Parts: sequence; C-alpha cells; structure tokens
Amino acid sequence: MKKLEKKVAIVTGSSRGIGKEIAMKLAQEGAKVVVNYRSSSEKAEEVVNQIMQQGGEATAIQADVSQVDQSKHLVEKAVEKYGQLDILVSNAGIEYFGKLEEITFQDFERVFRVNVAGQLFVVQAAARYLLSGGRIVMTSSVSAQISVFYHTLYGASKAAVSAMVRNLAPELGERGITINAIAPGGTATDMAQENAKYYTHPMLQNAAPEALLKSKTSLQRLAQPEEIAAAITFLVSEDASYITGSTLAVDGGRL
Ligand SMILES: NC(=O)c1ccc[n+]([C@@H]2O[C@H](COP(=O)([O-])OP(=O)(O)OC[C@H]3O[C@@H](n4cnc5c(N)ncnc54)[C@H](OP(=O)(O)O)[C@@H]3O)[C@@H](O)[C@H]2O)c1
Repeated sequence: MKKLEKKVAIVTGSSRGIGKEIAMKLAQEGAKVVVNYRSSSEKAEEVVNQIMQQGGEATAIQADVSQVDQSKHLVEKAVEKYGQLDILVSNAGIEYFGKLEEITFQDFERVFRVNVAGQLFVVQAAARYLLSGGRIVMTSSVSAQISVFYHTLYGASKAAVSAMVRNLAPELGERGITINAIAPGGTATDMAQENAKYYTHPMLQNAAPEALLKSKTSLQRLAQPEEIAAAITFLVSEDASYITGSTLAVDGGRL
C-alpha cells in the first residue's frame, strides 16, 4: 500500500535539486504532484515526464514564490487541476554569501523575499485549502544553527523558518494540520556545487571543500537529495501524525 495514495501535493522549486527528488518520491508514494519552478520550464517538464513514465501523475506550474500573487495563483491552479490539496512542501530557496560591508538592502530583500516571505505566503495560500490531516513542510537549513563566514543573510532567513513553523503549529493544529521544517546539511545539488567553496574558513581558501565537509560531518559526506526527500516523505505521511512545530535536522550529524 502506497503511503500517499489519493493525496495531492505541491512542491515549490521542484525542477531540480532537492525539490525534484521530493516530487519524485511523493509521486512514488502515490501522490499527484504539482512541480513548481521559477524559470527552468524544460527541467520541470522532464520531472513531470519521469513521474508519468513511472506510472505517477504530475503537472508543472510556473510561479515565482517571491511574488505573493504568484504563490496564490500556483495554489489555485493546483486545486483547479486536481480538485483538492493535502500537502505543501515549500522547498524553493536561494543562497547568498556576502561580507557585512558588502550586503545591500537589495540583497537583503532578494534573499528574504524568497526564503522567508516566499515560504510564508505560499503556506498562507495553501492553508486556505488544506483540511484536517493536511501537511506542510518548510525548508530551513543547518546554516540556521552554525557560524559560517559571510553567511549572515542566508543563515538569518533560514532561522526565521524554524520560528515560523513553531508559531504556526498551534494555529494550524486547531484545524488538524501539521507544519514542520526540514534542515538539510550540505546536499549534492547545483546550489552546493556553486557555493561549496564559500563554506571554507577564509584562511583555508586552498583547502578542498570536501575535506572541510568531512571534518564537519559525522557521516563525512554530502547528503544525496533523495535522503532529504525521504525524511520529508515521512513528515508528510500519516506516520508523522503527532509531529508538528518541529525542525528536523537531516545533516549527517553536524560536528
Ligand atoms: N543544497 C544544500 O546544500 C542545501 C542545504 C540546506 C538547505 N537547502 C535548502 O533546500 C532548498 C533546495 O535547495 P537546492 O540545493 O535543491 O537548490 P537548487 O539546486 O538551487 O534548486 C532550487 C530550486 O528552487 C527553485 N526556485 C528558486 N527560486 C525560486 C522562486 N523564487 N520561485 C520558485 N522556485 C524557485 C529553482 O527553480 P528554477 O530551476 O526555475 O530556477 C529550483 O527548482 C532551498 O530552500 C535551500 O536553501 C539546501
């Protein structure tokens, strides 16, 4: 018996990376999945095709979650297509590194618009349609809990996510809906590929990012996106019926 049979899920930012694997895994468990993307339409269609080829059901919907009206439109189109909504995985996010003196208000606004406002307002839009048993997962990061040079904006934006799920839990709990966050550690995606070099201490700029990662992670490797998706699949399933307001670290045992 598949765990998410008859469920409808939206996964924001699922054209690639962690989001893609979440969409694939939820579909494998029987959910009909809305694959959201900002600009990678071909990649999103590929994800939909892969799901269909495996006997699942999916559709791609473009929406930039940093725009409140687009998030609303995404949710409305999903409900129009599948007639209901049971699961929201708010995964879309962007990373940023910058020294204190370099950070501009535009940088602040860009990061917080996607990582904080983007997540809050897609949750707001989805919550209108979720019924008792509904599930929401937002995306924080190990970066909310650790010190990394020049990672202030990103770390702060991800810390806000854990505060949001803690405070939304009672409000949504009254309606039988759970809301949690996932906090991945370094995960092998485009984002990690582009930014791994910045995670090193400035005095160790010639050290290979992999060596640093090994020294900071009990399991001594990056996560694969599938491993993050597996934890999210648990959180949106019936098995996680008494978990809400939590942030689940999936970080290979951060040292
Ligand atoms: N990778 C890591 O090491 C790591 C660690 C901790 C937390 N995280 C978090 O996990 C999430 C996924 O990360 P990832 O590594 O898979 O990132 P990624 O490889 O950069 O993929 C990002 C995805 O988000 C979408 N996206 C970005 N901005 C968007 C917007 N404004 N509206 C809609 N979609 C948007 C992208 O769509 P397009 O393809 O259309 O651009 C893409 O599908 C993020 O929230 C990230 O902060 C990642």
